[in-house]
Amino acid sequence: MEIKNAKYEISNARVNQCPLHDQPEYAFIGRSNVGKSSLINMLTGRRNLAKTSQVPGKTILINHFKINDGKWWIVDLPGYGYASRGKQQRAEIKRIIEDYVTQRPQMTLLFVLIDIRHEPQKIDLEFIEWLGENDVPFAIVFTKADKISKKAAEKNIEDYKNTLLKNWEELPPIFVTSSEKRTGKDELLDYIESINTEVENSKIEEINEESITGDSLNDSNSENEK
Ligand code: GTP
Ligand code: MG
Repeated sequence: MEIKNAKYEISNARVNQCPLHDQPEYAFIGRSNVGKSSLINMLTGRRNLAKTSQVPGKTILINHFKINDGKWWIVDLPGYGYASRGKQQRAEIKRIIEDYVTQRPQMTLLFVLIDIRHEPQKIDLEFIEWLGENDVPFAIVFTKADKISKKAAEKNIEDYKNTLLKNWEELPPIFVTSSEKRTGKDELLDYIESINTEVENSKIEEINEESITGDSLNDSNSENEK
């Protein structure tokens, strides 16, 4: 899929203040500094669309980006687990993330970003568990693939899969990316496009079902008039 335009829309800390629309949203989450904002810039081909930083904890709000005139949206979420934040701010960010993920009907899929260089981390595994408990659809995106050898990357991915399979019957979709080298861009955009199509088809089905129910209602009304 081609991204024709991408526009920053709004940032806020409350899920009920997010933009009004009925199109799919794809949100990006992961530890602070994992590369969420960089990945969004890489996918959209806009260098400075989402603010990036070498200092962890840059993104502290829910950031909405309108893609292809609002056909779908990208959401940059604050990173979790940044130890240098105060306890209160960590709790606030946790609440922002959890509210958005569980209360935003437009939230279609969550991309959980994992730094490919490390072995499975407790904080990510716990977050993924929480997604399972709350039936949140998600995919895993490994980031910073340019920072290690292909062989090391393959080993880490294999380890990760094995760790997940201890608790999950099925693995989620898994992508490998590098924002630096623009690896994984087409795969991710094609995946988003396939889900957009699914969402579109289910909307059409819903409309069809509604019109059938509407017809039968009309029929029964005319029965009453007799
Ligand atoms: P917070 O907003 O603080 O939660 O961080 P974030 O997850 O949005 O990370 P961000 O995109 O700001 O990137 C953090 C740092 O990692 C920056 O210095 C990026 O340049 C670097 N980085 C991100 N992705 C990649 C990548 O694929 N390869 C390399 N080499 N560096 C990357
Ligand atoms: Mg960020």
